[in-house]
Amino acid sequence: MHAIGIDIGGTKIAGAVVDELGAIVRSERVPTPAGDVAKLEDAVVAMITSLAADEEVAAVGVAAAGFIDAAQSMVYYAPNIDWRNEPFREKLEARVGKSVVVDNDANAAGWAEFRFGAGRMVSDMVMLTIGTGVGGAVVAGDRLFRGGFGAGAELGHMRVVPDGLACGCGQRGCLEQYGSGRALLRMANEVADAGGVGRALAKARDEHGTLDGRLVGSLMMAGDAGALTALRELGHWLGQAAASLSAILDPQRFVFGGGVAEAGELLLEPIREAYAEHLPARGYHPEPDFVIAELVNDAGVVGAADLARVWVDEHA
Ligand code: BGC
Ligand code: NA
Ligand code: ZN
Repeated sequence: MHAIGIDIGGTKIAGAVVDELGAIVRSERVPTPAGDVAKLEDAVVAMITSLAADEEVAAVGVAAAGFIDAAQSMVYYAPNIDWRNEPFREKLEARVGKSVVVDNDANAAGWAEFRFGAGRMVSDMVMLTIGTGVGGAVVAGDRLFRGGFGAGAELGHMRVVPDGLACGCGQRGCLEQYGSGRALLRMANEVADAGGVGRALAKARDEHGTLDGRLVGSLMMAGDAGALTALRELGHWLGQAAASLSAILDPQRFVFGGGVAEAGELLLEPIREAYAEHLPARGYHPEPDFVIAELVNDAGVVGAADLARVWVDEHA
C-alpha cells in the first residue's frame, strides 16, 4: 500500500505519496513558515490532508530535523527549530486521523539511499546530509541504527574542535559548525573579507547585500577560486570527521546529501583528501568509497514513507 512521507526542512516542507518500491506517485512542496512551531504544524497537517485526499495510505512518516525518541513519537530537541519535548505524533494523529510515525530527517534520507539509491549495494553505510545543519544516518549490518533512546546517529553533533564555535545543541565545536551549509557561508564570508582570491565573492556580496547558498554555489560551479577555497575548507572538516567515523563504524560507503552536495565531485575531492590523511591505520584500513546521494531532494520523503510502512508492519 502507498504511504505518505513528509520532510520538514529549514526552507521548505516537502511531501509525497510513495509506493512500495520508493517511487513518488504525487508530491507537493511549500516554504517552511518561519519561526512559528504552530504554523509549521498547520502546514504539515494541510499537506497530509491534501495528499491523503484521494489516496488510501498505510501510514504517514514525518521526517524532522531533531533528536527523536525510541517510540518515534516525540522530538526531544531540535537545534534549529523551536521543538522541545514536542509530542509531534500525538498532535498530528489527532488532527489528521491517520497513523503518524516521526523520524529524524537524516535517518529518513539515509534509509531511502540504502533501500533505493546510493547505498543499495552495501550492508554498512554512513550518510551525512549537508544543509542548514549536518544530519547523520548509520546503516550497520543492513539495519538502520537508532541507539538506545532513539536519538543516535546525530553525527553533526560530534565534537571536532575542543571548545570551538557554539552550536544550536547547546555545546561547542560540533561538526555542524564546520561542515554545514551555514558554515560554508561563514567560510565564504571570511574568504571575501581576506581579499585576494575572495574578490569575486566580495563583489557578489556587495551587489546582493549578503552571500547566500545560491550565490556561493554558482561561483563554485563557475570555478571561482574563492568559492572553491571555502568549499575545500568545508570538505576537509567533513573528511576528518568521516575518518573518525570509519574507526567506529567502518562503513563500505559514505553518502553525502543535502543542498551543498549538489557541488558533487568538487565537494568529494577535499573530503577524500582529508579522509586519507586522517584515517586511523591509514594504509592498512580498507578504503570506503565516497559518493553523492542519488535521490537528491526526494530522499527525505521517500525514506519517511518507507520507515512509516516498516513501523506499521512491525507494530500491527
Ligand atoms: C539536527 C539533526 C538533523 C540535522 C539535519 C541537526 O542540527 O540535530 O537532528 O538531522 O540537523 O537537518
Ligand atoms: Na540521524
Ligand atoms: Zn551541536
